[in-house]
Amino acid sequence: MSRIKNLEDYAVDYRKSVMDPEAFWAAQAERFVWRKRWEEVLNYDFLDYQVEWFKGGQLNITENCLDRHLLHRSDKTAIHWVANDPRDEDRVYTYKQLHQAVCQFSNVLKNNGVQKGDRVCLYMPMVPELAIAVLACARIGAIHSVIFGGFSAQALADRIADAGAKVLLTANFGPRGNKVIPLKSIADEAVEKAGGVEKVIVYQRTTEEVNWVQGRDLWWHEELEKVEVACEAEIMDAEDPLFILYTSGSTGKPKGVMHTTGGYMVYTAYTFRNVFQYEENDVYWCTADIGWITGHSYIVYGPLLEGATSVMFEGIPTYPDAGRFWRIVDRLKVNIFYTAPTAIRALMAQGLEYVELYKLDSLKVLGTVGEPINREAWEWYHLHIGKGRCPIVDTWWQTETGGIMISPIAGVLPTKPTYATLPLPGIQPVLVDAEGNEIEGKGVEGNLCIKYPWPSMIRTTWGDHERCKNTYFSTFKGYYFTGDGCRRDEDGYYRILGRVDDVMNVSGHRLGTAEVENAINMYQGVVESAVVGYPHEIKGQGIYAYVVCDSSKLEVSTISDLKTEIMATVVEKIGKIARPDKVQIVRGLPKTRSGKIMRRILRKIAEGQMDNFGDISTLLDPSIVESIKEGAQKDE
Ligand code: WTA
Repeated sequence: MSRIKNLEDYAVDYRKSVMDPEAFWAAQAERFVWRKRWEEVLNYDFLDYQVEWFKGGQLNITENCLDRHLLHRSDKTAIHWVANDPRDEDRVYTYKQLHQAVCQFSNVLKNNGVQKGDRVCLYMPMVPELAIAVLACARIGAIHSVIFGGFSAQALADRIADAGAKVLLTANFGPRGNKVIPLKSIADEAVEKAGGVEKVIVYQRTTEEVNWVQGRDLWWHEELEKVEVACEAEIMDAEDPLFILYTSGSTGKPKGVMHTTGGYMVYTAYTFRNVFQYEENDVYWCTADIGWITGHSYIVYGPLLEGATSVMFEGIPTYPDAGRFWRIVDRLKVNIFYTAPTAIRALMAQGLEYVELYKLDSLKVLGTVGEPINREAWEWYHLHIGKGRCPIVDTWWQTETGGIMISPIAGVLPTKPTYATLPLPGIQPVLVDAEGNEIEGKGVEGNLCIKYPWPSMIRTTWGDHERCKNTYFSTFKGYYFTGDGCRRDEDGYYRILGRVDDVMNVSGHRLGTAEVENAINMYQGVVESAVVGYPHEIKGQGIYAYVVCDSSKLEVSTISDLKTEIMATVVEKIGKIARPDKVQIVRGLPKTRSGKIMRRILRKIAEGQMDNFGDISTLLDPSIVESIKEGAQKDE
């Protein structure tokens, strides 16, 4: 089926998708290989949440990502991998080779007792084997759960235990910039803590040795030698789980967002093709990590479903220098480039000399995702990377939405700095007030909700459907609540204002304030803590922690030691991505008489705003505010 090519196509498709969503999505689903056609397109209930798309349909998503392309694209590059170290050679997989690698690794999984419905956790560097293993899980009907390599042993253990995985896939080490992450030793500790893992299959990324548990640990390459190459795809129901991906919410425990097969496939392919206006010979590069939803939907599934060439990069934007991205763009003649605002800001700060060395003339479309992009970063990206020639698609979406929801369509919908602009066909956003009433009209702000199902929406939070209902479907009855605040301007364009709940967005990584507080509170001698996000030039948001310590602890430790140790505790419990930027030891937190922490005051102080706190008369001890203020100023 063709792409949306102009404003009129968009208007027509949007109208169709609202007037008759089932016909609209059925037509999209027709493009794929189904072993059995669906009986019903959509079944749903937003009040007592459940949703089913393409019920009765049977398929395997990897037949659509791989087998389907063997006839016409077998020698086309599917994955072009670039190593962390610029001196290392690229690795290229054609569709035929990727198909074979996936089938072979599927047999490795089977050989190690993995069956349909089993959970497999992956804690891997960004190597082709990660994409291969993800697809191998899908091929045999196992549910993959990828955990970002920046998470600590404790965080990994929590996720392994919650998913109930019996197999863990990892690597001995993972190079990133000038560091090497000891993935295997972190995995060892996590497996020990989590329990239940019977096999650990280890990809050998570097030559360094690692600790080995006989009977449990297996080398990836040795396992491959034991199996055949051919592997029939398992036939799955459209609503069979495809993967679990953990993400942070406003409560302490990360939740396992579960996506299923048919709807996710249809939606990620549709959005990939349309938003980026992908054309057959384009080289497409998304710089995300497969440990996040962006990597799932727009490095692996979306591009492969469309038969695209997807670049996969192991390293970081600033290694060996801040020209790394642009050198790769020129060398591989990348046409579509998709990254995060935090990366743009970091590179912007390094100066133009790293950009001016490169031509960047292959670029056609630029994209951003993960957090609001500020105007300066948008302009810089547009002018210096896109040379004023490439549309920027500012794509708003979430782990829970599975795919892009509100975004310009490259070259079709006009762009506007800092605006995600308009909903894609099939998406019906609304703004609601605190009481859940829809706010009509233009030039308004409210809580962003979606009022009708779309194919790739979250089905449940793993093992706890109540939590799914409570988190997304109970705040505003009858709507999916995104957690974001949003403005609809005079043109009807949407601008995401950031989270309205206790979720922070630090360098594009989602973190719950409660999650960080829980980690801090585990440090011995901490009585309680409160964490807030504050504006940070590069990271978007930084983490500010107010911590109350035991008086006995204060007597024996210096403040600076305490801060260092508290930060180390967070790194240990969650990972470096959650390390607070600032820790302030305070004598108490500003609490109301009912014991509720007044976070707005803490947010103001973190922002450096030392007055206009509003009404603080309901505080149990208003003098606390003064002392926190003084402490903050002293720390500056
Ligand atoms: C934020 C990432 C502004 C938003 C795909 C959302 C954005 C959260 C944008 C989801 C954008 C994502 N503009 N904010 N273009 N994209 N966000 O689950 O607050 O890691 O709720 O998914 O990131 O983060 P997640």
